[in-house]
Amino acid sequence: MYSENPARDALRVTKAALMNQVARFTPGLYVGLTGQTGRGNEKDPPARIAAYFRRCFNEYMERLGVESGKEARFLRGRSVLEYGPGDVLGVALLMYAHGASSVQCVDRFPLKRATDNNLQAYRELIDTLGPEQRERACRAFVEYGEPESGFDPRAIAYAVTRDGLIGRTAAYDLIISRAVLEHVDRLDMTMDDMASALSRDGIAIHKVDLKSHGMDRYHPFDFLTWPEPVYRLMNSHKGNPNRWRVDKYRELVERNHLRFKELEHTGRLEPEQIERIRPNLAAGFRDIPTEELSWLGFWMVLEHALPEPAPAVHA
Ligand SMILES: C[S@@+](CC[C@H](N)C(=O)[O-])C[C@H]1O[C@@H](n2cnc3c(N)ncnc32)[C@H](O)[C@@H]1O
Repeated sequence: MYSENPARDALRVTKAALMNQVARFTPGLYVGLTGQTGRGNEKDPPARIAAYFRRCFNEYMERLGVESGKEARFLRGRSVLEYGPGDVLGVALLMYAHGASSVQCVDRFPLKRATDNNLQAYRELIDTLGPEQRERACRAFVEYGEPESGFDPRAIAYAVTRDGLIGRTAAYDLIISRAVLEHVDRLDMTMDDMASALSRDGIAIHKVDLKSHGMDRYHPFDFLTWPEPVYRLMNSHKGNPNRWRVDKYRELVERNHLRFKELEHTGRLEPEQIERIRPNLAAGFRDIPTEELSWLGFWMVLEHALPEPAPAVHA
């Protein structure tokens, strides 16, 4: 096993393996102990939280080719599913405000929190909307325009499920996630769940971050050098990166009879940085070409690959 400081790494493995069991059996306690929010910083001021979710929403629309001002035309009547929203359902609120018929959020960890800060972030989001969107956003809550009353589940529903799966069939016209797929324990199960939940002519968009999330020890991407069994022992239930690279996504997209409308990396490591760790890579990564292994993240837009069944012809 690759290490430049075996004593420190042995201690790291022991501590991480113990916390992994806490995350496995008591995800709520794990979230409490580690102070996770989803976005990484609970102390962000509401204006910054709101700005983050506006940016997320705008990037989804941009990637989907929806011009600014035409969001309502695109979203009207569409049911939306969001995997892994984190502690603030900001994207869900904006999707609903811009015309989505309903938004279902699903997570594996119970991160959603109605702190004063987060409630203020919802108000900030509402305040920057035009009159029509603002009216819809206000109706997303149990009491009109009152975030502290909670979301009306007919507009925006939130579920925490085992493995973060929704378990529905052809139920959503738009499926979104950002900074989630790299965290799911079982990517194959989540991709199966997503493909089956997507309606026949639906569209899915995911932003995937392939960076190490602070788990490198000595060199960029050296978190890919832990042998898989050791890495799983430390991380399999925590929502830490699952380490799948883009080759795995290609395989799962094909297996689920989906197709890429778009697949584009968001940045790459220098080839020399990959070559430096290549001799120590864990088995599953050794055959991935440097060009692909260097991806730091990507956007993918997906749809069903199979054409609509032709209408039956009656004699
Ligand atoms: C880095 S946060 C991103 C949160 C949010 N999408 C954002 O952009 O701020 C990762 C999210 O994925 C969720 N998550 C982890 N494992 C999951 C799973 N198996 N299914 C669904 N969500 C999961 C986490 O609980 C968290 O909400």
